[in-house]
Amino acid sequence: MSVAPRRNRACAKLLKDVNTILTIEGPTPSALHAIKLKLVALANKIDLFPMADFAMPVSQGRNHPLAIEDDDGMGLYLTINLPGKEAAPHDHGIWCVNAAISGAEQHDFFRRSDDGTQPGKAVIEKLGTVIVQPGHGMAMADHDIHSTAVLGNEPAVGLALYGYALARFPSVVWYHPEFASVRAGVSRRPSVTA
Ligand SMILES: [Fe+2]
Repeated sequence: MSVAPRRNRACAKLLKDVNTILTIEGPTPSALHAIKLKLVALANKIDLFPMADFAMPVSQGRNHPLAIEDDDGMGLYLTINLPGKEAAPHDHGIWCVNAAISGAEQHDFFRRSDDGTQPGKAVIEKLGTVIVQPGHGMAMADHDIHSTAVLGNEPAVGLALYGYALARFPSVVWYHPEFASVRAGVSRRPSVTA
């Protein structure tokens, strides 16, 4: 069997296993940890993800859909982020799990520490750092905050699983610690505002 059908089968199996976990437990910290371990195991099968099958980004980064569920379900992507790509601290509004295939990306995690009463203002504190590199991944809950930066001189290639497909993504909230400011992006949720 050529690689694409084997990859599709492996991605479908991952989503089935993840659904089993979520049905029993919901997206709890332990469930997200278990899902991360499954995604790392899939990313470790690097023969399923030959770079010849995935076009490089023109700049910054690119997401290649691998398996998108119907009925407002999850989205699994192969992500390629080029050296130098950075993202300011943000909260996706939905849980997310990453696992590296090649390269390395630094994820810094934050928590919001103000009371949220001042519109447009937010204070965040750094909690720690995870390096997503082969054999490793990261998991974040619906409103966890992270920033990202590709490390080194090679693209960071990995798998990303989101609780909603990117085309149906909630508002992403961006934090700018140097200005103690916050702004919310546009939601893609159908008939939902956030
Ligand atoms: Fe993110």
